[in-house]
Amino acid sequence: MDSGWIARPLGLLLFLTMAFPGVTASYSIGIGTADSTGPVAEIVFMGYAKMDQKGTGLHLRTFARSFIIDDGNQRFVFVSVESAMIGHDVRSAVIAKLKKKYGDLYTDENVMISATHTHSSPGGSNLYTLFDLTTFGFIKQSFSAIVNGITKSIERAHDAVLPGRIFVDRGEVLDANINRSPQAYLNNPKTERDKYNHNVDKTMTQLQFVAADGSPLGVINWFAVHPTSMNNTNRLVSSDNVGYAALLFEEKMNKNSMPGKGKFVAAFASSNLGDVSPNTQGPKCEFSGEECSAQYTCPGKKERCFASGPGKDMFESTSIIARKLFTEAVNIWQRGSKAELKGPVRVVHRYVNMPGQRGEYYNETTGRVEEVEACLPAMGYSFAAGTTDGPGSFAFEQGTTTSNPVWNAVRNFVAAPTEEDIKCHGAKPILLATGRMRLPYQWQPKVVSTQLVAIGDFVIAGVPGEFTTMSGRRMRETIASAVMESTEVEPIVVIAGLCNTYSDYIATPEEYEIQRYEGASTIFGPHTLTIYLKQYRELALAAVHGRKVEPGPSPPDLTTENLISLQTPVIYDTSKWGRDFGDCLRQPEKTVRPGHTVSAIFVSGHPRNNLMMDSSFLTVERIDDNGNWIEVATDANWETRFYWARTSVILGTSQVEITWDIPLDVLPGKYRIRHNGYYRYILGGVFPYQGFSDLFEIQTTSES
Ligand SMILES: *[C@@H]1O[C@H](CO)[C@@H](O)[C@H](O)[C@H]1NC(C)=O
Ligand SMILES: *[C@@H]1O[C@H](CO)[C@@H](O)[C@H](O)[C@H]1NC(C)=O
Repeated sequence: MDSGWIARPLGLLLFLTMAFPGVTASYSIGIGTADSTGPVAEIVFMGYAKMDQKGTGLHLRTFARSFIIDDGNQRFVFVSVESAMIGHDVRSAVIAKLKKKYGDLYTDENVMISATHTHSSPGGSNLYTLFDLTTFGFIKQSFSAIVNGITKSIERAHDAVLPGRIFVDRGEVLDANINRSPQAYLNNPKTERDKYNHNVDKTMTQLQFVAADGSPLGVINWFAVHPTSMNNTNRLVSSDNVGYAALLFEEKMNKNSMPGKGKFVAAFASSNLGDVSPNTQGPKCEFSGEECSAQYTCPGKKERCFASGPGKDMFESTSIIARKLFTEAVNIWQRGSKAELKGPVRVVHRYVNMPGQRGEYYNETTGRVEEVEACLPAMGYSFAAGTTDGPGSFAFEQGTTTSNPVWNAVRNFVAAPTEEDIKCHGAKPILLATGRMRLPYQWQPKVVSTQLVAIGDFVIAGVPGEFTTMSGRRMRETIASAVMESTEVEPIVVIAGLCNTYSDYIATPEEYEIQRYEGASTIFGPHTLTIYLKQYRELALAAVHGRKVEPGPSPPDLTTENLISLQTPVIYDTSKWGRDFGDCLRQPEKTVRPGHTVSAIFVSGHPRNNLMMDSSFLTVERIDDNGNWIEVATDANWETRFYWARTSVILGTSQVEITWDIPLDVLPGKYRIRHNGYYRYILGGVFPYQGFSDLFEIQTTSES
């Protein structure tokens, strides 16, 4: 390893302490962000597992946000990426790229990649069969975009390293989340439930990053909520509620920079969100608006039961939840009660082959401690029913021919569960014995990543899936008590959700017995959590004592498999007869007012010809007094939307509609909308084009 990488931040620290004797920088800090959006058109979104939920455009770009923390001895990187999940192969590809550039500075041990779990980003980047079943297989463009976005954000953080300080504080957001499986939660012991006021966590935990000279660098906020304010009818790529909260915080700190381009970086990262919904009106019957039954059904056949709110539509709901998170995050940021982190950075990572792992479980009913074991992965029937955030999503049944071509292609290879599987999974009726399914390749992970970092008295447990509320609470308690056995200081512990490997849900053994969606998707059986509690206790003890742990068995490298990919490529584009790419087919209104929406339609190519990473398919521009065009918004702004449509598959024609909700605090003046894109020429090659709308005027005073 090139020790220069370590020497540089240390040198900076030394320089600073000598130049400004009053300043005490405890860590070297580097923060960076990069675009990870991927293909916005024709790719099925990941999250709701709904095959007809294919992208037709873009609302909010997705970003990867990286935070490097270095105590001069040990380096740690936390990445929050706006994606449904993070697969082992994505993380491996990121680490391999970093290795080429930086040697052994960034490894399995010290890089933690946590997905926010937005359900509106393009799928196909996780290689395990089950997760690509609904996306027509593996999507190379999705995979590369997310790998490159994460890598670039870490590189930018690396280049920005400087001496700084880290503070921690907590707050509460009371009305932004509800439990979507309350009957499962109620099966947890009463004595345990009585310790908490709510059936979901309301705490927001915040890390604040400040340079040694006091200037703000960035913030990470952990709050447990599903980014499912945008529901399964949405077709625009979006980072959802937590993504918009991040944009709001960044906009506040980086005046006049475009989204994802400012210096200050704000992450709203995932936590124990397994059973937590943002749809705070709760489940209701689709048409009647009546309460659903206890089994979440509605009278009659056609009417579905799903949750929504608090807004009048999903965009407003996203905005309301985002603003609640943003508002509390700013409150915490501005408050004076924070504690400063001091002390060493310690990272511990271990791969665990889950099936067959043993643990001990205290059964309240029998009053006995039982020896328990993790099972081979399997999914239960309730998994196929979906959740009240996205009902009835997995539309296939065992042994029947369905409209899912990938399912049809692989169903003959489906393995039946054995007696042993059935016994091991207990209350779960097995729909898919994914642990026994190897064809075309592994369906679900068996080897998962477990990771923990201590930064002074602050501990981040990076977990490989979606912990439910109570699972997360037990994990935090277990880790805190392990740490306190030898330090006597009570640490602050956060659960970083969906890190490094995606292995679905982790419900408590008691919740598991109820077999709601989360229990049905707890893949290693009733004692998945029991095993993790034991594992993370060991990691916590190792961190406290500065010990290394065995690295564990490497997960399989699925990139070497012959990956199924049924997504058709873009063949060619043509412009409409007598038109050019970029021609404006429908002009915006000539005069408009704040609060109105303007729109324009352009002749376009296919957005998959060039993903416009770190760039934009559109800009809204204002002309200033000197005749210069000033960028006012890009495709990553909340106010803009980019809708793409193929108008003829045979001719290869398409068009885009660009809309802009004019902010209330807009400057009056002359504006235009610009569209940037690429078309694929029928005889080969991909070429750029651009187009402009006519000018339109924004009037802020009411003249006639
Ligand atoms: C999704 O939200 C839209 C409103 O934005 C609503 O009309 C639709 O019924 C919702 N669908 C589901 C399944 O939640
Ligand atoms: C606890 O023991 C009871 C009685 O044997 C059993 O029915 C139940 O499944 C056990 N609970 C768990 C979570 O294993």
